[in-house]
Amino acid sequence: MNIANGTKNTLKNDRQLFKGIIKRLKIYTKKGSKTKVCGRRRILDIARHLYKIEPSACVNIETTPANKIAEADKLLLLGTPWDNNTIWDLLEQRGETNRAVRADRPGELHFELSQTFGVNPNLNLAFESVYHNFYHRTWYAYPLIVAVSQAQRMGIKELTVIEFGVWQGDGLLNLASLCEMLTSCTSINFRVVGFDTGAGLPNVTDYRDHPELWYTGELKMPNIDKLRRSLPDNCELIIGDIANTLSPFVENLIAEAPIGFVALDVDTYSSSVAALNLFEIPADFLLPVVPIYVDDSYVNISQSNFTGEALAINEFNKDHELRKIDHKIIVRPDRELLPWQVGSMYFAHIFDHPVRAGEGNCTFIGIDVHKL
Ligand SMILES: C[S@@+](CC[C@H](N)C(=O)[O-])C[C@H]1O[C@@H](n2cnc3c(N)ncnc32)[C@H](O)[C@@H]1O
Repeated sequence: MNIANGTKNTLKNDRQLFKGIIKRLKIYTKKGSKTKVCGRRRILDIARHLYKIEPSACVNIETTPANKIAEADKLLLLGTPWDNNTIWDLLEQRGETNRAVRADRPGELHFELSQTFGVNPNLNLAFESVYHNFYHRTWYAYPLIVAVSQAQRMGIKELTVIEFGVWQGDGLLNLASLCEMLTSCTSINFRVVGFDTGAGLPNVTDYRDHPELWYTGELKMPNIDKLRRSLPDNCELIIGDIANTLSPFVENLIAEAPIGFVALDVDTYSSSVAALNLFEIPADFLLPVVPIYVDDSYVNISQSNFTGEALAINEFNKDHELRKIDHKIIVRPDRELLPWQVGSMYFAHIFDHPVRAGEGNCTFIGIDVHKL
């Protein structure tokens, strides 16, 4: 196992960065300014509400072409990475990236935005922040809050959270940053663990691994050491095929820090089978309900219940009587459904967990998907 040695204080960096962003926002709000604040409607609404930005300074990236946006003198890009990449690529081609600042780098904006809205220990406002999609990875923030809600009721002080499939590290850094935010408002600590071969996808074999989508060696990690250096102390990267690295990891788990959340993003069926072996560990090493973000089960027309991550889940369910991984649509009244809420949220039900047998004082009444 390789333990990360990075010690960067991401929280402090986030705050400093955000101060810069606020300063820019203030400059941008001046009437007649030729600078533009760019993002999706939702985030623009929030920015306008919080910082009284002139409507004329806001550009909705959903409805405005990138080359039109690039005409502005200065740009503050408030979108997600994939929102901002198009405009950023254009500016890069023109050698003009110095005219823009992007707020989508892991941890740069969402922490302070959630603080601004007043995250508190009982998490109501953190939920509200997630509701409003402040985080650029709401699909990690939501399940983390599901995990924290359980931990609080069970008196658990530390959770282990996992990303299977790390690639460039954006997801792992997001996860670490969100955990830091949740620790600061709940005192629950996190051990954050990322698994990757480092060398890209292992053998993509038959139709179950989606050879029409992926190839062996695709998604190689660009710079493992650089990523390690940027990880906070509580976050580690385990390099190697999950088929080989999971067992030694599991042997060192402790019941005091049960598995609270898993992101399954290894793309293929074979790798998903290896990753799901995690759910064979003793019940008290897991939360009674472990939220799982499943990245690749429904987006492409060729993804199905008979291939890829979804097939691995179905087979797991067939083989385990008291452990079932169940898909749930996260419906929230009066809110527009986001794609991850429809296709990507699963819950591992640990029916042999003492809590599921009604032992102890813990009750799960009130942890309702639509309230989180
Ligand atoms: C889509 S990328 C992950 C992206 C990342 N989760 C994010 O959102 O930023 C998939 C990664 O899974 C890794 N992977 C696939 N199968 C694996 C296995 N059996 N063991 C370890 N890593 C694996 C690949 O190396 C690849 O980097």
